[in-house]
Amino acid sequence: MRMCSRSSRKVGWIIPILVLAACTGVKPAATSGADTQVVAGSKEQVLLGRQIVILHDCGGCHGGGADPGAKGWLAGVMSPVQEFQIGACSVAHPDGKPCFTTRPRNLTPDNATGLGRFTERQIFNALRYGLRPEDTPDVDITSTTPGQGNFPATPHYLAPPMPWTTWRHMPDQELLAIAAYLKRGLAPFSNKVAESDGPPDFWASAYTEQLIGPYPVRPFPTANEHLP
Ligand code: HEC
Repeated sequence: MRMCSRSSRKVGWIIPILVLAACTGVKPAATSGADTQVVAGSKEQVLLGRQIVILHDCGGCHGGGADPGAKGWLAGVMSPVQEFQIGACSVAHPDGKPCFTTRPRNLTPDNATGLGRFTERQIFNALRYGLRPEDTPDVDITSTTPGQGNFPATPHYLAPPMPWTTWRHMPDQELLAIAAYLKRGLAPFSNKVAESDGPPDFWASAYTEQLIGPYPVRPFPTANEHLP
């Protein structure tokens, strides 16, 4: 996973989404222990979130790798080598345009620079729908169609290569556990990450159903699969 999140910082327009889908995969629920129900607000919920965060390599981009004891664990970009170049500026064509610099953000609950000012539901909405918490109200979203069921009419999506397009398929319980861990299981760490660059449509044209697949996922078996 290092290879996916560090050495391929220069990635093409759509490639990151595909690469990450292949690199991180969608883990079966059982690997993260979600077959046991956890109570909202409990220590077990926070510990489940911690396990999922480690298994899904959030620290590979947001800082600290797989070591919750590492300096800068989930505190976001602290050096330019942790930034991504997204767009036509591939390794072969470094001057290609458009080219956007995107930056994994501070996920610790620091109020001024991290997730402290957002609710667990806003973090859940970021992971399920890819919506930037700072531009998306704290509401229960019940549709994936813009303008319906509290889904914003003009969504502001998280910049690639944040892999929400695969992780949105995690069950509610797992996404809520991640939010619980980030808000209630981490010490706040002050680190101001500069805003990511992005196109005026906030990546909406990179996240069409044709490109990222439907939510929920198509039923098994699709044309590429068969019954065992
Ligand atoms: C491949 C790199 C990568 C990985 C792995 C990754 N992220 Fe991100 N994440 C990003 C980038 C880049 C952004 C910034 C998006 C933007 O600026 O619009 C981001 C933004 C976020 C945000 C929005 C924060 C805010 O203040 O707007 C949350 C929440 C988040 N990530 C959670 C996670 C979690 C939880 C995991 C692991 C399950 C994870 N990320 C793994 C790259 C990554």
